[in-house]
Amino acid sequence: MKFYEVIKSRRSIRSYKSDPIPENALQRIGEAVQLAPSACNLQPWKFRIVLNPELRAKICAVYSSEWLAEAPAIVVALGNRDECWKRLEGQPIIDMDIGIAMEHLVLAAAAEGLGTCWICAYDVARMNRALNIMAPWSVYAISPLGCANTEPTKLMRKPLDEVFMVMQ
Ligand SMILES: Cc1cc2nc3c(=O)[nH]c(=O)nc-3n(C[C@H](O)[C@H](O)[C@H](O)COP(=O)(O)O)c2cc1C
Repeated sequence: MKFYEVIKSRRSIRSYKSDPIPENALQRIGEAVQLAPSACNLQPWKFRIVLNPELRAKICAVYSSEWLAEAPAIVVALGNRDECWKRLEGQPIIDMDIGIAMEHLVLAAAAEGLGTCWICAYDVARMNRALNIMAPWSVYAISPLGCANTEPTKLMRKPLDEVFMVMQ
């Protein structure tokens, strides 16, 4: 798919088929993550693609939704707040770094015809405990990954001129 077609095709998918994900697609998605930029090129992340049913069940016990459990894989985006670059005021830039790498994954998945859905609305401490993740690492986002079993509804967005301005 061409870049802008990928952007337009990507939507949050909340219904999945159980079909397995082709290994070569996973490889390309991994390479897209690897190419993501990060502040000072520190790459303070690890992305786990969880196929293992017991581990997936542990994740679904913390974020319990039917559609997450349907997906054949769950992406877990781990970030290291000590390893990342810090802003001049001292705050770690980790959310931004992880956001970029995760979106590389999400768009690469869309290019492969696979669905994803960013998920952050879980209890972070519980998720870390469930997956045995210790500080300074933490689970910053998760997403199902698999073939969509639904056509997304109409996309709602703010008007272009409200969010994007060319200043002469
Ligand atoms: C940082 C972030 C966190 C999100 N967390 C959740 C979540 O916990 N659960 C969920 O169902 N959707 C979540 N979403 C998906 C948004 O609801 C979705 O992107 C938005 O409604 C726009 O729809 P679209 O992705 O189909 O364009 C999240 C999206 C982002 C970018």
